[in-house]
Amino acid sequence: MGAKERHHVLLGVSGGIAAYKACEVVRRLRGAGAQVRVVLTANAARFVTPLTFQALSGQPVRDGLWDAEAELGMGHLELAHWADAILIAPASADTLARLAHGFADDLLSTLCLASTAPLAVAPAMNQRMWLHPATQANIATLRSRGVAILGPANGPLAEGESGPGRMLEPQQLVQALLAPDGAHVA
Ligand SMILES: Cc1cc2nc3c(=O)[nH]c(=O)nc-3n(C[C@H](O)[C@H](O)[C@H](O)COP(=O)(O)O)c2cc1C
Repeated sequence: MGAKERHHVLLGVSGGIAAYKACEVVRRLRGAGAQVRVVLTANAARFVTPLTFQALSGQPVRDGLWDAEAELGMGHLELAHWADAILIAPASADTLARLAHGFADDLLSTLCLASTAPLAVAPAMNQRMWLHPATQANIATLRSRGVAILGPANGPLAEGESGPGRMLEPQQLVQALLAPDGAHVA
């Protein structure tokens, strides 16, 4: 996708320590010419505040489904329709599991079900969580549905360990998402 087309990117942020890096993802997406709207899971909002993402995206940020004002016009469906692409970064093990199983029990998972836009996820978690058969099965399910799995990288993890589970760098995510040929970092 070309940034010149002024893409509408919906950035979903789930609850992991790499949520702070999602701030830089917003900045870089905007720098590449995309419009960005951010949706946080309730747990992501424990790591980084909606206000930070609002300031960086220049758009209202949502962190829950049950917002009466935003839902006056069925805001969740409007957001799903608005998105040309959905990127979830970081994608927690929990969010990946819920996406793989088609859950719609919060705003982000509901949006993903209600949207026909291409979905990309950037997993970020402890290496044992990543390598767990449950997570690997969920990833295989998502991949079989055409979801782009961006990373994770191998390297130092937040808890002092090292291995696969590190979120790709913001610049790599933006490049993968906005690549004209839809090229993915596997
Ligand atoms: C300090 C802390 C760091 C965490 N980091 C991660 C992480 O990097 N990746 C992950 O998958 N879960 C992580 N978790 C666990 C998730 O926050 C938890 O599974 C949560 O239910 C995710 O919810 P969500 O996917 O709806 O955002 C962490 C939890 C805590 C308390």
